[in-house]
Amino acid sequence: MSSATADALGPLHDYVEYDHASDNFRDDVLQGLRQSPKRLPSKYFYDERGSQLFDDICELPEYYPTRTEMALLRTISSDVAALVGEGATVIEFGSGSSTKIRILLDALDDPLAYVPVDISREHLLASAKDLAGSYPDLRVVPVCADYTQPFDVPEIAGEKVRAGFFPGSTIGNFTRADAISFLRAAASDLGHNNGLLIGVDLRKDVDRLHAAYNDAAGVTAAFNLNLLERINRELGGDFDVDAFAHDARWIPEPGRIEMHLVSEKAQDVTLAGETFHFEAGESIHTEDSHKYDVAGFKALAAEAGWDSIECWTDADELFSIHLLRVA
Ligand code: AVI
Repeated sequence: MSSATADALGPLHDYVEYDHASDNFRDDVLQGLRQSPKRLPSKYFYDERGSQLFDDICELPEYYPTRTEMALLRTISSDVAALVGEGATVIEFGSGSSTKIRILLDALDDPLAYVPVDISREHLLASAKDLAGSYPDLRVVPVCADYTQPFDVPEIAGEKVRAGFFPGSTIGNFTRADAISFLRAAASDLGHNNGLLIGVDLRKDVDRLHAAYNDAAGVTAAFNLNLLERINRELGGDFDVDAFAHDARWIPEPGRIEMHLVSEKAQDVTLAGETFHFEAGESIHTEDSHKYDVAGFKALAAEAGWDSIECWTDADELFSIHLLRVA
């Protein structure tokens, strides 16, 4: 772990960086391609191009989660503020561009500090500085870390209450076991009696889900295929990207959209001196996006040591936001 020097901080109160912030892209890709069925971790979607494509996905007419969650957050923000209380330190897991947090910060009663936690150093620092410029009385302390690995929330002088924020239904991209481990770790980071506001995509009509992950403009396909382009770019692979097709399918049990890249012909791919054979129709499983009903998510949270305080959904029951408290 290391901290930055005062002149590099600009408007930031402090900055903390963890060593585990650097991923092992090469080893993870090789290990995933050696498995049967083949897998690639979805966290590697988000290079510069992938992050841009994800921002584009969020604007698509078919991709309802982002706009539904933002609208719901605006509707409930004063109720959330009343439940969280005055002078909170807000810790955001996977803060990205720190956009949604502004809705919450605008509603909270005199928040003390904002701790955005993200693995992407440059993006984290730029977003945190921008946010600190908009909220001059707020102590902004970015932590560069993989929030699924252990890290300490920095102590802020005068801290009263902590509130976690984990929007976007990113929890849906975890397996059930990983979701429970993350929620257990978050409970210990935030401490007894503190809260977590978490966005969770709801189970719904399969056609709607299918459209959201197989959009007509092909942006989700480009996002998925960018993973192979990234492997070619950064690791010197020779994937023939045009010979793979995006596929997103609903798997009723356990209730998730799975994204795959399907090989359209029998082919060999070479990477780091290893050859990986694909049969025609064989796929690489690249992402899971679990969908929960309200009771199912409350049960999962309870297993991880959280009490449910409140849950809000939009009128069309597309998306839910839960406020949990460490039991
Ligand atoms: C980031 N995550 C919540 C998105 C989701 O819906 O699972 C990622 C995504 N994959 C395809 N479209 C969006």
